[in-house]
Order: sequence, then structure tokens, then C-alpha cells
Amino acid sequence: MALANRSLVTIDDLSNGEMEALFSLSDEMSDVMDKQFGLCQGKIMASLFFEPSTRTRLSFETAMHRLGGSVITAADVGATSLAKGESIADMARVVGSYVDIIVIRHPWEGAAKVVADYAGVPVINAGDGGHQHPTQTLCDLYTIKKEKKTLKGLKIALWGDLKYGRTIHSLIFALAKFGANILFYPTPSLEVPEHVLKKLTTEYGGGLERYEALAPTAKEGLFPLDAIYLTPSSPHQLAMMPDIDIQVKLKAGVDALYVTRPQKERFTAAEKKQELKEKYPVVDKKLLKSKEFRKTLVMHPLPRVDELAYELDADPRSRYFEQAARGVPVRMALISLLLGAKEITLAQKEALPSTDYPRYQRDSGIRCPNPRCVSVQETETKYLKPEFKIVNRKPLTLRCTYCEHGFEPKYVASADWHEGRTASKKYHSAESHWARKIRTENLIVFNSTDEAEGQGFKPSRYAKVRRKRSKAKTSEPK
Ligand code: CP
Repeated sequence: MALANRSLVTIDDLSNGEMEALFSLSDEMSDVMDKQFGLCQGKIMASLFFEPSTRTRLSFETAMHRLGGSVITAADVGATSLAKGESIADMARVVGSYVDIIVIRHPWEGAAKVVADYAGVPVINAGDGGHQHPTQTLCDLYTIKKEKKTLKGLKIALWGDLKYGRTIHSLIFALAKFGANILFYPTPSLEVPEHVLKKLTTEYGGGLERYEALAPTAKEGLFPLDAIYLTPSSPHQLAMMPDIDIQVKLKAGVDALYVTRPQKERFTAAEKKQELKEKYPVVDKKLLKSKEFRKTLVMHPLPRVDELAYELDADPRSRYFEQAARGVPVRMALISLLLGAKEITLAQKEALPSTDYPRYQRDSGIRCPNPRCVSVQETETKYLKPEFKIVNRKPLTLRCTYCEHGFEPKYVASADWHEGRTASKKYHSAESHWARKIRTENLIVFNSTDEAEGQGFKPSRYAKVRRKRSKAKTSEPK
């Protein structure tokens, strides 16, 4: 089976079988790294890094050199025409006409998807803002698999900045795909975003247990974690007694502790202030004395700052430098597959996850509420139409196809009901029974009454009630 001409934008772009096959190819590559020179001879890779990088950029470039290909690079947005206001789509079209494959890191969430949509050659996401970093996830999974032989049923703890850590977001989905359990240990105020948790629990079938909801007996001796994701295939999942289940699971120990640095470059002003008040927790020998970490692999995507003590470098549980080193064979395998220089054989035929949601796309109206999304940037709105997946009708929930932020619009209307009948051009509360009667293809959504009325809609009786209620709420003394 060929992966040729495909792009890797999110970790969902690869099936489990494809990832397993890629790991086998990475094994082959790492055994004879200096004998792969003929594989991509004559091919050119563009390495576009518009945010700082050591590991990802240099391991991709090393990988291409080891495969016999050439590399052109732009490592500073100020040295490209993006600084003159060129759109990402135009840049992608042009660079795509020069090279055979593009690797891109960009601060805007969803930027890699835009490049993949316009370049006409395979594109690899090397990190798009706080969204995803799928090739880091491949290195992480490859490392865990090499050490533990399997991913299924493992308990993987995620530590630190779980809000902005893009490596965390792609790792969460990948672990769930492979049937691992996930323990969340966020730094206060840097918890996993709700839209990530929602996708995790609705699309991967497991259950999320919040720490605060656990019985006091279950919390005894438990590290102060935030939540636990239990995979549906977990052998100990006792639906009637989930608290006991958690105790059973943790007593057996944590398989890997994945530490991340605070992603200060993405902090809001309020988060910067909070950071000064609360010390970021450090993983050190003292912490790892705890019984559940006795056989735990200590992992980190790097770079580290102060959150991982240097005294752990000599600890037999530490694996972070191996993770970084494995970036070369893993990326050699990936490049050679996407360029069609190698093919993989799948143990069994399998399709990519088929969560095929209806799309929502209109010329005007609602935009992604995430200010870091590529689709709301001034240079990109000239050609990008906001595009969403309708992932739920009750409550109505939309997910941006670029940055994957989810949100629940407040008001809706139908494109069909009002057609030719101005008097019935009404908008409704998204919670009303009218909202659910609107066919998907006719749905129009608004985030505010101003937005709806600006488009010529008048409030229905229910929308008026909702508007009154939300006005009363906002005028209540705090
Ligand atoms: N892990 C990682 O993405 O490192 P760099 O930022 O150095 O590429």
C-alpha cells in the first residue's frame, strides 16, 4: 500500500496500521541509516520554519540528506514574502511548484492544512501553533512501543502545560486510538482545552473521570491529577465502580510520564501574571520516588526549561534524548513513504476513522472564535471561507476544520423557511425545538443577536426569551 502524495496535517491522517508499518520502516532505517542514499535522490524538500526549532527542523533536514534528497529552507518569516502580506495559500502554491515535499511550522493554528490544501505536493505539519505536532507524536509512540512493546492498555501520564502543548494534543488522540489510558496532571490553569476533551470522549469511545468527582476513598494516595481517560477496551473498566477501577489501575504503576515545558510564547497576559504567582511543577528524583513511578519511562518532547531536573538525565527511566534521536529514522520513513520511495504492507486492510460529519460553510456570518486560527487572520480571510464540521445537533456544536476549536452557537435560522417570505425571516435560540427541525443543509448559525439582525433576521418568540435571559444574567450584580 502506498502513502505517496498524502499529507500529514493531524495525527488522524494516519490509521493505526499505517503508523505501525511506519514504525517497522523506522526500525529498518535506523539499522542502516547511512545506506538509504538512493531512496530520494533528485527530490527536494522545502523546510519552512516560521517558529523556532532545533529538533524538528534539523531532524527533518538530516532525514532528507540521509535519503539522498536536497533541502531548501526558510527559517524566518521576516525573510519571506509573508512579511509583505502574502497569503499562506499563495506561498504554498509557489513553493509547491519548486519542490516535491513541504515541511511547515507556523504559529497559526490550521496553517498546515491551508498549505496542504494549496501546495499540490505532500505537506507535513511540523507544529501549527497550539494545535498539533503529529511527527513528534510519531516519535513519542515509537519510543513507548520500543520500550513497552505495546500501547494498548498502558497508563500514560501527561504533565505540565496541557493547554498550549501541541505535542500533548496530537499525543492524546494517538494514545486513545491505540487504546491507552491517559492521566492528566496539568499545571493549574493550563488544563487540556474542553474541545480536545470533547473530541476525545465522543470519537474514541472511552470515558473521562474528573478527579473532583471521585469518592474521597478513591483519592487516597492519588497524585492530585485532574482527570483520567479510561480506554473502552480497558480490562479493569468496572462501569459500576469507576473509582475503584482507578485505584486498581494506578497501583499497578504509570507506564510513562510525559513532561512538557510551559509554552510561554502562547500565554495570554493573565496567564503570564498567574505564572508569576504559581511555580511550575518540577519533575525530579524526589517526585519519582513515589511508588507508581517505579518503572515509569520519563519522556519530554524537549526543549526543557526548568520543569525537568538535570539530575534525571542519568536515571535509567529517562528516555527524552532517545525520543529526539529517533526523530531521524521516523522522519526518514515518513518522507520516503509520502514521496512514494517506499511502500508499506498492512497486516489487514483498514480505513481511516470514518467520523464523517456534515459540513457548515457560508459566505458570510460566523467565524472561528479562536483568535489564533488561520481562518480569521487578515491575510487569509480574502480567500478562506470559514468551514466547520457539525459534530453535534443537541447541543448544536460546530468544530472549525482548520484549528479544530469547537463551540456552541447561540442562535440559528433556516435558509429555507424565510425564502421569499420576509415576514418569516426569523432566528431562533439554538436550544429551541425549532433549531432541531432545521435541515443541516439549510442551517444558518449566529453567535449573537446583532449578527442575526445584521443579516436581516428578526427574533422569534423563543429567541426573545433567550435574549432577555442573557441580558438579565449579564446585568446581575457579581
Ligand atoms: N520537540 C520539538 O518540537 O522540538 P523543537 O521545537 O526543537 O523542534
